[in-house]
Amino acid sequence: MTRHLLDVDDLSGPELNEVLALGTDTDPRPVLAGRGAALVFEKPSNRTRNSTEMAVVALGGHPIYLRREEVDIDGRESAEDVARTLALYHSVIAARVYDHRVLQRMADSVSIPVVNLLSDHSHPLQAIADLLTIKAEFGDVEGRTVAWVGDYSNVARSLAKAAAMVGMGVRFACPAGYQPGTADLEVFESLGAPEVISTSDPGEAVDGTHVVVTDAWYLMGQEEEAAQRRPIFEPYRVDDDLMGLAAGDAIFMHCLPAHRGEEVTNSVLDGARSRVWPEAANRFNAARAAIEWLVGQANLPGIGNR
Ligand code: CP
Repeated sequence: MTRHLLDVDDLSGPELNEVLALGTDTDPRPVLAGRGAALVFEKPSNRTRNSTEMAVVALGGHPIYLRREEVDIDGRESAEDVARTLALYHSVIAARVYDHRVLQRMADSVSIPVVNLLSDHSHPLQAIADLLTIKAEFGDVEGRTVAWVGDYSNVARSLAKAAAMVGMGVRFACPAGYQPGTADLEVFESLGAPEVISTSDPGEAVDGTHVVVTDAWYLMGQEEEAAQRRPIFEPYRVDDDLMGLAAGDAIFMHCLPAHRGEEVTNSVLDGARSRVWPEAANRFNAARAAIEWLVGQANLPGIGNR
């Protein structure tokens, strides 16, 4: 059965560890030699597009970048027919979509791996990059904690799942109305998190934690939403005072792009505890590792034999 990566818990715990090991491997196998990878972006990207394209190159393959206007999923043709067509020429489909269900429909239609490059539900390659960054810092991460401060989002969900799967505790400090639901908190527990805390108090979540993470309070282009959200999220800015409550060896992470001075101050983002640039660099290692692992699981026919 073809394996896909629509969220990080599509992998078992041991499989996630295999992907993490590949992420630190400096000698990747050319599993995509002579093969293509279709990279579909319904939304803009800097890190994800560049890291995934270069990951495909590092695996010996040829990436083809497809903008929303070119494929026009469910406009020009259905998500299923887009995926079936791409699978004729490529060995991997990776897509950034608005609606997670589109990814699921694409995955259900093809027998090549489909990789989520961010949906409204999840961002698994970001989570794998974040774990690579945390493990590079601390080595053995079991029993350490991650505190997410701000908006509970697709990025937060995937990171918390990934952290739980390697035995880390997960904490959330989010304003009322922007907090994880009970069902998600139960998922983190079931995935192995030794501690799951959801609070509206940033100080409570960050107290003694080893990793502090935040993200933008609103998406680019959502100016009306931004005006409504800013006063709600103001108490959730990560600044030096908040970082001072974390463990002495705590690090700060942010998937980027950052809204400097909003969710995080410049002094934290550019400070000694910040690992945002190694985190961004690990997007390449995460994409390379995940694609190498997924293609390694598949028995893919060469182009021309489909
Ligand atoms: N973190 C992230 O996904 O960045 P991009 O939106 O630039 O790809």
